[in-house]
Amino acid sequence: MNIIITGGAGFIGSHVVRRFVNNYPQYHIINLDKLTYAGNLANLSDIEDQVNYEFVKGDITDAAFINELFERVKPDAVIHLAAESHVDRSISNPLDFVLTNVVGTVNLLNAARKYWEGDSSKRFYHVSTDEVYGALGESGMFTEETKYDPHSPYSASKASSDHFVRAYHDTYGLNTVISNCSNNYGSHHFPEKLIPLAIHNIKNNKPVPVYGKGENVRDWLWVEDHARAIDVIFHQAKAGDTYNIGGHNEWKNIDLIRLLCNIMDRKLGRPAGESAKLITFVKDRAGHDLRYAIDSTKLQKDLGWVPSLQFEEGLEKTVDWYLANEEWLNNVTSGAYQEYYNKQYS
Ligand SMILES: NC(=O)c1ccc[n+]([C@@H]2O[C@H](COP(=O)([O-])OP(=O)(O)OC[C@H]3O[C@@H](n4cnc5c(N)ncnc54)[C@H](O)[C@@H]3O)[C@@H](O)[C@H]2O)c1
Repeated sequence: MNIIITGGAGFIGSHVVRRFVNNYPQYHIINLDKLTYAGNLANLSDIEDQVNYEFVKGDITDAAFINELFERVKPDAVIHLAAESHVDRSISNPLDFVLTNVVGTVNLLNAARKYWEGDSSKRFYHVSTDEVYGALGESGMFTEETKYDPHSPYSASKASSDHFVRAYHDTYGLNTVISNCSNNYGSHHFPEKLIPLAIHNIKNNKPVPVYGKGENVRDWLWVEDHARAIDVIFHQAKAGDTYNIGGHNEWKNIDLIRLLCNIMDRKLGRPAGESAKLITFVKDRAGHDLRYAIDSTKLQKDLGWVPSLQFEEGLEKTVDWYLANEEWLNNVTSGAYQEYYNKQYS
């Protein structure tokens, strides 16, 4: 199989590419990525020389480029992760999210429809988020039947792309699959997101910003468990199906940050309680959803997937990775990787 994985130079995409390249030597994996601020090929330096791996720099908003790529590589499947992914950026610049997340997805769907000509053995897998379901109160969980109710421009753009993917299944018979996952954490996460930002700031003795009173609840999943779920769903789901992915692992932001501070005190040899002094409450994000929680019973029952790591263990591993990869952190925060790779692939 020739498989195009979009967004493979980003956080989750790099874990998916690595998994597929290593576990399926019989597949040819084409990583299609624009290399925005969030993507860099250093995330894949360990597999870049493998014979079943190819990188293509390109923009999914460019329909002509997507068509040429389909013509050349004749993909048997697409696993689509490329997206603008940061909620705060979507609030200041929603149009970028419409272009990449909605128009980019429709460009890929159009190419799949055109080049696959109704061949139902070819699969289009769309990777999405639980944020499309909106916010929960104190109780309840999102299931695959929960009505869509997105609140941020980011979640609205992902909800829209999910609807287009379903519409191409229902209207044109495209073999599509969607998964909606909770918040991920782990290595290679760009340090604008909560966990890597907090690790970076604690290490550098900078204030650790926490929105509002830190009461918002997120359901955290180890990124490699997400990549394994994508692998299982890609190979086993029925056409047109949807799966929720989550770790049954809810944390209030403030409790998570306190746990992280304790781990960092230990790892950095600081007195207990030292890092927590850096916690700084800041004005809440506009339209901030109170609580997300995912019910992944369907995935567990149908396909036998279960998360592999306890949160404390995963967080500890994540901290270890960031402390051991200072150069990676410095390069992504200064844009040095992006500059280097963009020059190389211009
Ligand atoms: N991070 C999470 O917790 C989470 C949870 C559930 C679902 N998701 C979804 O998973 C996917 C990956 O998320 P992530 O956190 O790894 O994102 P990320 O921001 O780390 O990576 C996105 C990648 O897409 C690439 N990209 C952006 N615009 C592009 C374009 N126009 N053309 C080609 N490539 C482009 C970037 O260069 C980058 O490599 C997204 O679709 C996101 O909505 C993320």
